[in-house]
Amino acid sequence: MEIRGITKADFDQVVSVLDAWWGGPSGERAHPVFFYELGDQALIAEDEGELVGFLLGFVAPTHPPCGYVHLVGIEPDHRRLGVGKALYEHFIGRCRAAGAERIKAITNVGNDRSIHFHQALGFDVEEAQDYAGRGRARVVFSKKL
Ligand SMILES: CC(C)(COP(=O)(O)OP(=O)(O)OC[C@H]1O[C@@H](n2cnc3c(N)ncnc32)[C@H](O)[C@@H]1OP(=O)(O)O)[C@@H](O)C(=O)NCCC(=O)NCCS
Repeated sequence: MEIRGITKADFDQVVSVLDAWWGGPSGERAHPVFFYELGDQALIAEDEGELVGFLLGFVAPTHPPCGYVHLVGIEPDHRRLGVGKALYEHFIGRCRAAGAERIKAITNVGNDRSIHFHQALGFDVEEAQDYAGRGRARVVFSKKL
């Protein structure tokens, strides 16, 4: 498996697989800003030329800088093989190099798969009420680097 930067063809493919990989309408999750403005920081996992995973994230210019993962997805037949963990490890290396001291991600309340995955990677997990607006709680993952 190879982890590398994203191309426009990869981004188009990511958009086209989202519904299937998430099990429902999800095309809007991959906002084009994650390719056009933030694509230098996005990662693709490829196995023998086949897209098997992706991570859309960036290092936020906070003080100190903070790595932020917007979206990570693994092709269903390639789950539980360490692909998600490998993408995170690669991204964390980049975050450290950019001076980040923390990494953060969020998910919807009830996404147990994501919660278990982030817990396994050593993230603290906290449910934040009104995080995304009134009545819109989110689960916030945070880890010191
Ligand atoms: C969540 C997701 C990214 C995990 O990717 P993955 O490549 O399967 O994860 P890994 O194989 O690297 O798992 C690392 C560890 O996380 C934990 N883990 C991962 N998926 C899990 C699950 N479904 N249930 C419980 N624990 C899980 C395990 O401890 C695992 O280690 P193990 O397999 O040795 O027990 C993947 O299931 C996915 O794409 N889900 C759909 C999209 C999604 O919800 N994305 C996250 C929110 S943006």
